[in-house]
Amino acid sequence: MLHDIGKLAIPDQILGKTGPLTDDEFDIIKTHTMIGEELALGSPAIKDLAPAIRGHHERMDGRGYPDGLAGQQIPLASRIIAACDAFDAMANPRQYRAGLGSHRATEVLCEHAGTQWDPRVVDALIRVVARRPPIDEARILTNRGPRPPGLPARAAAERPRPSPPRPHAELQPKVLAGVARAAMESQLSLPS
Ligand SMILES: [Fe+2]
Repeated sequence: MLHDIGKLAIPDQILGKTGPLTDDEFDIIKTHTMIGEELALGSPAIKDLAPAIRGHHERMDGRGYPDGLAGQQIPLASRIIAACDAFDAMANPRQYRAGLGSHRATEVLCEHAGTQWDPRVVDALIRVVARRPPIDEARILTNRGPRPPGLPARAAAERPRPSPPRPHAELQPKVLAGVARAAMESQLSLPS
């Protein structure tokens, strides 16, 4: 995604490494925030995004990079990118690991709201996730997904259906309670 445009300058052997990174390798990875900022500033079409790109690995507790900004010092766009990017990375599978799914991913966001992520951003993200089933699940339930190649329409209609997704109604109170708890611990108030 655009916020990681600076990774174009990071060697593939570091980006694609599946084992733990050395300190030197992590220092190189960190530079993608500043390289991304420079690239954005060099393009009139996206130069306004430069501060958001530079700050997307900052943390609410000031332990992020590259500048160690904390709380409201971090551009709001950066805080939104950070939470959404983390949710996407945790919920979905990667080549080397399974995904946690949206339920567990939102629980992790709650656990670290106020220290790593902005609790108000986490709250907003959870409201969106709780209202909408994941896209793939929606397509399965309504049978509007593409028919597998070579499978006749009738056979496609009769193919086994996965179990319906867990209702999000039971997810929302639990995760919102987690957000509220994290917000109180960090002495930040939730929006009404
Ligand atoms: Fe990044």
